[in-house]
Amino acid sequence: MIELVDLTKKFKQMYAVKNLNMFIERGEIVGLLGPNGAGKSTAISMLSSLVEPTSGDVRFENNSILKKPAPFRKVVGMVPQNIALYTDLTAEENLLFFGRIYRLHGKELERKVDEVLEQIGLTDRRKDVVKKFSGGMQRRLNIGVAMLHDPEVLIMDEPTVGIDPQSRNYILETVKRLNEDRNMTVLYTSHYMEEVEFLCDRIYIMDKGNLIASGTKDEIKQILSSEKTISITMERLNDEFVEVLKQNPQVNRVTTGEKEVTILVPRDANVFSEIIRLAESTGIELNSVDNKTPTLEDVFLHLTGRALRD
Ligand SMILES: Nc1ncnc2c1ncn2[C@@H]1O[C@H](COP(=O)(O)OP(=O)(O)O)[C@@H](O)[C@H]1O
Ligand SMILES: [Mg+2]
Repeated sequence: MIELVDLTKKFKQMYAVKNLNMFIERGEIVGLLGPNGAGKSTAISMLSSLVEPTSGDVRFENNSILKKPAPFRKVVGMVPQNIALYTDLTAEENLLFFGRIYRLHGKELERKVDEVLEQIGLTDRRKDVVKKFSGGMQRRLNIGVAMLHDPEVLIMDEPTVGIDPQSRNYILETVKRLNEDRNMTVLYTSHYMEEVEFLCDRIYIMDKGNLIASGTKDEIKQILSSEKTISITMERLNDEFVEVLKQNPQVNRVTTGEKEVTILVPRDANVFSEIIRLAESTGIELNSVDNKTPTLEDVFLHLTGRALRD
């Protein structure tokens, strides 16, 4: 349905996006994952013809949307990273306003506004001005705006950043429902692994403008098939313990939390007794040592040597 071909954007000497190749099939939820600055928003802006690529192409049903944007614009709903609403107007007034921009009128517009309010769970708040809304409610309304013209494709740029957990779950469930009930195609951008894991059929991972992995969830986790992840928790972490882990020849990567250390080791390595020994020698009081099923977070760590939330 949609294809990005060697899509590239340079700002001065810096590649924000470099030779990005992606495809999206009808009815899929595709995840675009990467830390801040990876190039996600730039990629999406080129996809929705807000930013002109330096080189490469974007194709919608085999036609370049760079040459002919109209057919794609008609079917795409874009939820931008920054909320774009009139905060002095009510939820309903915002939807009516944006609906008219999409050339909806009269009864059809009213029906659509009712439907969207229902979908985003704001029916009972329709008469309230947007500036009284929580961040999460504003996000939901912003998503509602993108759904007014019944898009076949919804592009969402980090729609859950900085909002409360209830709104976040609501948004994730809404996306899932739109996909299941209406076969809506979704490109979902995030730097939260667990969201992408929950929602997406296929995933692309970007870092510093480059695609570093792509495939189904299982395929991506296969990247880790030669390694396993061990989570170590303790009463209090110290630098010495981290250092001896890093220096251990069996340990490939070490990341630290407040009272937790995660290490990647070869799949067949038996390191439990070694960990216990190292903990004792550095004065660490262990709480647990567990094998973890690999997550996308681990994949990112494996590929880049950095945690996603750096
Ligand atoms: N208009 C711009 N001018 C110059 N640099 C930009 C511009 N937009 C984005 N960048 C840079 O491009 C890189 C990718 O940014 P962005 O696409 O926003 O990443 P993400 O959405 O993954 O956080 C960043 O280093 C950012 O500073
Ligand atoms: Mg962004």
